[in-house]
Amino acid sequence: MDAEVFDEFPSPADELAGRTIAVIGYGNQGHAQAQNLRDSGCEVLVGNRDDEFRAAAQDAGFEVVTIEDAARRAQIMLLLIPDEVQPEVFRDQIAPGLQDGDTIVVASGYNVHFGLLDIADTVDIVMVAPRMIGEGVRDHYERRESVPCLVSVEHDASGRARGTALAVASGIGVLRGAVSSSVREEVALDLFSEQAIWPSIMAIFQAGYDVLANAGFSDDAILDELYLSGEPAEILGRVSRVGMIGQLGLHSKTSQYGQLTNLLRSGAFTDQMRERFAGVLNDQILSGAFSQDWSGSDTEPDADARIAALRKKAEATSLSVAERAVLDRWS
Ligand code: NAI
Repeated sequence: MDAEVFDEFPSPADELAGRTIAVIGYGNQGHAQAQNLRDSGCEVLVGNRDDEFRAAAQDAGFEVVTIEDAARRAQIMLLLIPDEVQPEVFRDQIAPGLQDGDTIVVASGYNVHFGLLDIADTVDIVMVAPRMIGEGVRDHYERRESVPCLVSVEHDASGRARGTALAVASGIGVLRGAVSSSVREEVALDLFSEQAIWPSIMAIFQAGYDVLANAGFSDDAILDELYLSGEPAEILGRVSRVGMIGQLGLHSKTSQYGQLTNLLRSGAFTDQMRERFAGVLNDQILSGAFSQDWSGSDTEPDADARIAALRKKAEATSLSVAERAVLDRWS
């Protein structure tokens, strides 16, 4: 299914004239988006709590106010604070200052899709979700290059939400690489990548390490071969330019023959993965079970404590123990 690619490129300064944009949060995405919007001719202020990010925004020449004041003064609010703190900050500091016809812009679909922000029906909700870290969003803007981005209108109370979404995306410098999407699609793809693809890649390295270590090879040599040399990062860099199969041409003929014969023999493994991944997508992500587990209960220990407990278990695996010893020896 092909997504809509945008072919209208509104001038952000014209389309958003007379409206103030508040960038709430000056971290990874916030610092990049605020600077890009300002350089695109928009009226931007930053809403931030009193921490080092507030000082960084002030150093960059922004007017920085409390989040409450930003919500009262601006007509367009970009929520660029961590997803897990957004519901509380929105309820206590942003919602009281919103007016009918204001726009909330999210950079991730999570809280809107799972109904964790209680946004009045009279407020527009749009998503401008760059598929890149903030540094990249800023660097590409300065080089006049676009970055991939998902854009959607989730609620159009004012009748002008689409124009606002496209103008904000244009001001951030991501409209030319953007496709039309939805919070549901953004959150499903994002969580799928995090919960199906990356844990499986880590599990593959774990299985590979165990087989090679049991065969008596040295930890240093195994981990160098698997990933500590940085070769997988080089390969993925090539993949992003010429594709998975395209990059094979850069390897020796022995390597290509070995990779291709084994890829074409891996049908049963791929079938097992498909079944497992469908379970992650349907039963864990789209059903809301993950969101309920992670965001649904006030009685759970806080996020950092939950992650610390899981990390402790992951750090006890054979791969992790070997990795620590090798990295210590090398440092
Ligand atoms: P971040 O972790 O860099 O946010 C830091 C900012 O949040 C700082 O300004 C800090 O003062 C503020 N903050 C932190 N805790 C707070 C609290 N309890 N109350 C008030 N302010 C608080 O956030 P990041 O990574 O830029 O993410 C922002 C949004 O962008 C999220 O929705 C995220 O999913 C989305 N996003 C992030 C990407 C990334 O590369 N990090 C990529 C695309 C989207």
